[in-house]
Amino acid sequence: MAEKNLKRLGILTGGGDCPGLNAVIRAVAKPAMNEHGATVIGIEDGFEGLVEGRMHELSNRDVSGIINLGGTILGTSNKGDPWHYPTEGPDGKLVIVDASARAIKNYKRWGLDALIAIGGEGTMNISHKLAEHGLNIVGVPKTIDNDLDGTDVTFGYDSAVSVATEAIDRLHTTASSHHRIMIIEVMGRYAGWIALGAGLAGGADIILIPEIAFKWEVIFRKVIERSTHGKRFSIVCVAEGCKCPDGSEVVQEMDEKRTDAKRLGGIGEVIAHEISRGTELETRVTVLGHLQRGGSPSAHDRILATNFGALAVQLCAEEKFGTMVALQGSQYLGLPIQTCIAKLKTVPREHCWVQAAKAVGTSFGEE
Ligand code: F6P
Repeated sequence: MAEKNLKRLGILTGGGDCPGLNAVIRAVAKPAMNEHGATVIGIEDGFEGLVEGRMHELSNRDVSGIINLGGTILGTSNKGDPWHYPTEGPDGKLVIVDASARAIKNYKRWGLDALIAIGGEGTMNISHKLAEHGLNIVGVPKTIDNDLDGTDVTFGYDSAVSVATEAIDRLHTTASSHHRIMIIEVMGRYAGWIALGAGLAGGADIILIPEIAFKWEVIFRKVIERSTHGKRFSIVCVAEGCKCPDGSEVVQEMDEKRTDAKRLGGIGEVIAHEISRGTELETRVTVLGHLQRGGSPSAHDRILATNFGALAVQLCAEEKFGTMVALQGSQYLGLPIQTCIAKLKTVPREHCWVQAAKAVGTSFGEE
């Protein structure tokens, strides 16, 4: 029977952390141990732990009482891609090597029957490659960015949007007192989901997302109009991945060790500078940063994470490998990982949230 084959199950969390990872670990480990009688092996720091053979057995106690805990009890890393593995060369300099054979060897050495990889687009790409090399993998989609295709939503997104919305609420009161233009920069990489969700929920006056090109003049016009004919302040919610009208991207640093070398950040300052220059209105910038990734998961994310985790174990037991769990409408299902990584899920320009925001007077900076 297929279920008997699930004796040793590995689990790892890869890429940037987000609220809900521990809820998934719990939802994987409990049924795996208690219903299937499997030993669950926690792999430390994502794929780094698989390459380096850093793993340990999880007990019932390890996974108990963690549904509300932020971060990941396993640790994570966005520098552990086995095919792009940073290591020290003979001269002490950084070299990137292919360490995939070590990862595969450790999977076998630890006697794993299956591996559940919880992560975003980078983790799913690596999982797909490992599956092609014969590893039994099931993916669980995580990311505050909500940019993984195939699933309506990833866990972590709702929690991040809640944090960003609360920040906008707080900025509203001080913006209004000082008659300022408040710019809030949120994360999201190349997708505008966090900016759109939080901007909509927080009632931002201007939402800027990578998917909709903006013009400086349109932004200037909007804030001047509000300052002279309406409320004497404006809230601008901008996604870190937004490009300037000249097509330039604002990058904080390049780090070759990372799966994605580019670390975005800084567009908020650019926008503030341009608005003060173009309108002479006073601006202030808040970069929300990793606050969006820390702390407890929302109730929505705990429910999503628990459903995802439990289904991932079921797929392993049924030997449906090379799949990623997903939510489509109200249905939880497993999809081939390959179909989920073919493209990023960005915000469609005609998305109903964009339309709703426009209907209440929000500008996206386009003509
Ligand atoms: O993918 C999640 C995310 O938080 C992005 O929104 C952001 O661009 C990136 O990770 C930040 O990465 P790091 O934690 O390495 O600074």
